[in-house]
Amino acid sequence: MPSCSTWRSTGSSACPPPRRRAERHTAMSAVVSVRLARPADARAIAGMSRELIETGLPWRWRPQRVLAAIADPQTSVAVAELQGELAAFGIMEFLDDDAYLSLLAVRSARQRQGLGSALLGWLEASARAAGARRIRLETRRDNAAARSFYNELGFHEVGIRRGRYGAGVDGLLLEKWLQVSRAPSD
Ligand SMILES: CC(C)(COP(=O)(O)OP(=O)(O)OC[C@H]1O[C@@H](n2cnc3c(N)ncnc32)[C@H](O)[C@@H]1OP(=O)(O)O)[C@@H](O)C(=O)NCCC(=O)NCCS
Repeated sequence: MPSCSTWRSTGSSACPPPRRRAERHTAMSAVVSVRLARPADARAIAGMSRELIETGLPWRWRPQRVLAAIADPQTSVAVAELQGELAAFGIMEFLDDDAYLSLLAVRSARQRQGLGSALLGWLEASARAAGARRIRLETRRDNAAARSFYNELGFHEVGIRRGRYGAGVDGLLLEKWLQVSRAPSD
C-alpha cells in the first residue's frame, strides 16, 4: 500500500495530485484525504455503489460484500474524504499480475473537483507497490463521463462486451499498463 494518505492542496510531496490540471479544481482550497476503508465505511460505500454505479441493475455490492472486500488481503478498498465527508470510494482487486478496478465513484455533488483523479492515483500507486503489471476495468459503453475520465488518466479502450448491462447496453473494457514486459535475458 502507498504510505501517503493525505494530499493537501498546498502540496505534500508524499501524495501529490496526479496532474497539474487538478490545481484548477475547486477542491483545491480543501483537504482531500485518501485512506483504506474501515468496516464502519461499508454501509456508505454500498449505498454509493447502488446510487452511482449499480443504478437500474441488481444491487450486488451490499454492505456485507463490501465488508468482505475490506477484510480481503487481495483487495484494496479506498475512500476519499473531503471536509470530513466520505465523498468517493474505489475497490481494486489483485489477480495474478493484474489489478482489477471493480468500482470507483464520486458523490455527484463532488464530481469534477479532482477527487476521482486523486483516488485513482492512490489506487494506482497501490497497484504499482503490489507489483501489478496492468490495471483493468470495465464500464458501461454509454458512460461518457467515465470514458473521458479513464482516457484522461491514461487508460485505453481494448474491448467491448455486447449486452453486458442488458439489451443494447454494452460493456467497455479498458486497461492501463504499469510495467513494460522485459525481453527475456540470456
Ligand atoms: C467518473 C467519475 C469517477 C469521475 O470522477 P471525478 O472526481 O468527477 O473526476 P475528476 O474531477 O478527477 O476529473 C478528471 C478529468 O476526467 C474527465 N472527466 C471527469 N468527469 C467528466 C465528465 N462528466 N465529462 C467529461 N469529462 C470528465 C475530465 O477530463 C476531468 O478533468 P477536468 O475536470 O479538468 O476537465 C465520476 O464522474 C463518477 O463517480 N461517476 C459515477 C460513477 C461512475 O461512472 N464510475 C465509473 C465506472 S465504475
